[in-house]
Amino acid sequence: MCGIVGYIGPKSIDSVLLVGLIKLEYRGYDSAGLAVISDGELTIAKEKGRIADLENRLRNLELRGHVGIGHTRWATHGEPSRRNAHPHTNSDGTLAVVHNGIIENYLELKQILQKKGYVFESETDTEVIPHLIDDFLRQGLTLERAFLATLKELKGKYALAMISELQKERIYFARNGAPLIVAMGEHAGQKEYLLASDIPALVPLAKLAYYLHDGEWGYLDNGVFLFNLENQHVDFSWEAVTIRAEDIDKGSYPHFMIKEIYEQPEIMRRILRRRLRQNQILFDELRLSKDFLSSLGRIIIQASGTSLHAGLVAKLYLEQRAHIETTADYSSEFRYRNPVVGGDTLVVGISQSGETADTLAGIHEAKAKFLRVLSFVNNLNSTIARESEGVIDLMAGPEIGVASTKAYTAELLNLYLFALYLSELRWKIQEEEKKSLALELQNIPSYMEEILQQEKQLRAISEYLADKNSVLFLGRTFNYPTALEGALKLKEISYIHAEGYAAGEFKHGPIALVTDKVPVIVIAPQGEMRSKMISNLQEAKARKGTIIAIISKGDDEIAALSDFAIEIPSIREELSPLLAVLPLQLIAYHTALLRGCDVDKPRNLAKSVTVE
Ligand code: F6R
Repeated sequence: MCGIVGYIGPKSIDSVLLVGLIKLEYRGYDSAGLAVISDGELTIAKEKGRIADLENRLRNLELRGHVGIGHTRWATHGEPSRRNAHPHTNSDGTLAVVHNGIIENYLELKQILQKKGYVFESETDTEVIPHLIDDFLRQGLTLERAFLATLKELKGKYALAMISELQKERIYFARNGAPLIVAMGEHAGQKEYLLASDIPALVPLAKLAYYLHDGEWGYLDNGVFLFNLENQHVDFSWEAVTIRAEDIDKGSYPHFMIKEIYEQPEIMRRILRRRLRQNQILFDELRLSKDFLSSLGRIIIQASGTSLHAGLVAKLYLEQRAHIETTADYSSEFRYRNPVVGGDTLVVGISQSGETADTLAGIHEAKAKFLRVLSFVNNLNSTIARESEGVIDLMAGPEIGVASTKAYTAELLNLYLFALYLSELRWKIQEEEKKSLALELQNIPSYMEEILQQEKQLRAISEYLADKNSVLFLGRTFNYPTALEGALKLKEISYIHAEGYAAGEFKHGPIALVTDKVPVIVIAPQGEMRSKMISNLQEAKARKGTIIAIISKGDDEIAALSDFAIEIPSIREELSPLLAVLPLQLIAYHTALLRGCDVDKPRNLAKSVTVE
């Protein structure tokens, strides 16, 4: 949510910053801007809209220099506009700040500054920062001291960067609760230093990186200088940047979303290779003792959006496989609901980004109750990973498309294997059953490939859906979360109203929505729930609903009852969510395209929701 970049080095400053911002655009895309020390003067360029709009604006500006910062915004305070776009400056335009996060006491600070005569140009919380620095400068502090004094005044979350005409060769930075990375590279024998909210912006320039901790601040000039809020030097060690350029490139795909959908079989192979060896289930990075895990009394899963949907499936995995009482809750609810817990409770966070503010707050809440915390994350350097006692790597690779796809199936598979791991520790699974499950799991990648081959037929369903105003999704038990996830994918990228329901609940109210204009997508693979799903399908059909069914291969009975039927390979019901979601991802993708929507950057959204 909002992306920051900074660069100091020999390359052409505007192009380095623009390339970095393009790679961070998934974090916010309502406006963007740069501040550069050009010919010794602070020069600002900002624009409402996408980075491409900023790029157009830059055509008329000749920027020369090698120190600069940039920002791509997801609006929190103040509408998307050029006026509210970052960077923000002090009144005489000698220093510029970019910020990600929310300054909670900004109104209070703004009033104090206004009384001193400061005039505000924007509606943002961020603008208090340059004015505060300015105020401290007027009180006689050096820039470095004024920057630190300002940090001490701020309440809330921030990752920020600042440049100034007063020290033309420096970029100041600070982190508290929002991610920020400093990095180093080399160009033509000269060192270059970088700053970014996320690692993709630093590839391929950076060779070494350091992930800042909360309360750290410092500056880049001919090196990286790091301090804590007591102004003591902080020693740090570099980590090699291992991410490759192709991991964050669309390659030959038109969108990140479709590339990521197609990556799923390979990610399943990767997870199975690492976690299943000769029928042994391995979680070598886990950091929680087997003694603790085998004596667990209860699990509370807390996550947001798509990750919560994976958590709802995992609740069933953990209850049915490991026989542990489990609840799954939205992080935004869990953090405030003050649950009754005991010392044998494990709180599990699930987060692709590892930065979601609500999920992180849920972890803080659990720790405040002295509970143990385990997180499933796709980034081991993320804040959630760092703050959790145990951590499991999702291994999905960087997910750039704003709509989560590959992270969801990676979450499902890792959570399933974790449930099996616990069932083994707690003697709830027979060796024979484990062997047969291990064999079945090995089929998942090729089964996914089979589903992806049906993309053309799925596109025909999207053609049918493209002009509809509302679509309903029904599923039961393991596939109730699939219904929620299918509806979320469709609504977030195509803007068609969509809801997922537990199919048994349908007749208790939502069935009133069904007409010949409201299609119903029924997830009805083979298994215990199939016959119940047929009844629900019939109920919708009797009300003239168009039926689109996700069925197991060869299920002619449901196919005959449906207007459209998509086959998925036969698999145990508990594993079917891993397959059934793929057609729904593809349907959402094609429907959005047919409606002319920007699938990788849906309106009003941003990836990595770092504000509450
Ligand atoms: C939907 C989507 C969001 C995220 C949610 C949690 O496609 O991407 O609903 O799943 O914001 O994000 P993470 O998993 O990063 O905590």
